Amino acid sequence: MSAERLDGAGVAKIIRAEVAPQVAQFQSTRGRKPGLHILLVGDDPASQIYVRNKERAGAEAGLIVSVHRLTADVTLDDVLAAVRRLNADPACDGILVQAPLPRAIGKDGTAQVFDAIDPRKDVDGFHPHNVGLLVQGRAALKPCTPSGVIELLDRTGHAIAGTHAVVIGRSEIVGKPMALLLLQRDATVTICHSKTPDLKATCRGADILVAAIGRPGFVTPDFVKPGAVVVDVGINRVDTRETAVSLFGADHPRIADFDKRGSLVVGDVHPSVETVAGAMTPVPGGVGPLTIAMLLKNTLAAAKARG
Ligand code: GUN
Repeated sequence: MSAERLDGAGVAKIIRAEVAPQVAQFQSTRGRKPGLHILLVGDDPASQIYVRNKERAGAEAGLIVSVHRLTADVTLDDVLAAVRRLNADPACDGILVQAPLPRAIGKDGTAQVFDAIDPRKDVDGFHPHNVGLLVQGRAALKPCTPSGVIELLDRTGHAIAGTHAVVIGRSEIVGKPMALLLLQRDATVTICHSKTPDLKATCRGADILVAAIGRPGFVTPDFVKPGAVVVDVGINRVDTRETAVSLFGADHPRIADFDKRGSLVVGDVHPSVETVAGAMTPVPGGVGPLTIAMLLKNTLAAAKARG
């Protein structure tokens, strides 16, 4: 059996095509374009690529996208000051601080930065105000990756209500909000993490399995109930040929890609899961493009709400 391929890139394209005329409508009635401001601190290579993709997609949809770059040696106060300037800027509708922030800012500093964002401009949905609304099922700005997963399931005809959904990973960005959104849609939800006993058996109970752990190929076929819907949120760079071959096998076309580029982007789900799953998202081309599409949707929603 080979699983149905859940075409996140295709669904993201449809969402972007829905957003663009609404952005044009906003511009014609309000006399300005919605403005998305991205704060990129430091030189994390993956973040540079993500931000470039967000910039490109935003511009294509008709938004004004401004990227504010700060060097890795900035202080927490510098980052907080940048956020406050954007809070006060009337042309700024959405603020996105690209995570992770440099190590020196720390976990507590990162929380302070996200807490400083005006909740009405919080297009990531990470501010405690918006997280509280999300818990209560009445958030206007929901975290982009998990809300993109819900859109993908809806638009590819995979029912959520009445299923058992298992989320591997409990991050603030994906795992926790993913579980809440699935619960709101009447799934019975289990959140798994590094201390979960018998992780494989728990995952094998899932009708919908969401992997968000950041470990290449971690979810193997023995985690998956035959016919389950498997959503791979992982975006991992593999730069040793041995690992690439262990994931795909020596003759796979992606090994030729590896040989050309010296690295590959892979998910948390082992490619062989496609022999067991009923449906599965690819990496790349699955959840990643949806995250960006939902960011555009959130920016438009924030702009409309601000007037
Ligand atoms: N880094 C990885 N994913 C995300 C995201 O969704 N938002 C932000 N701000 N940073 C990220």
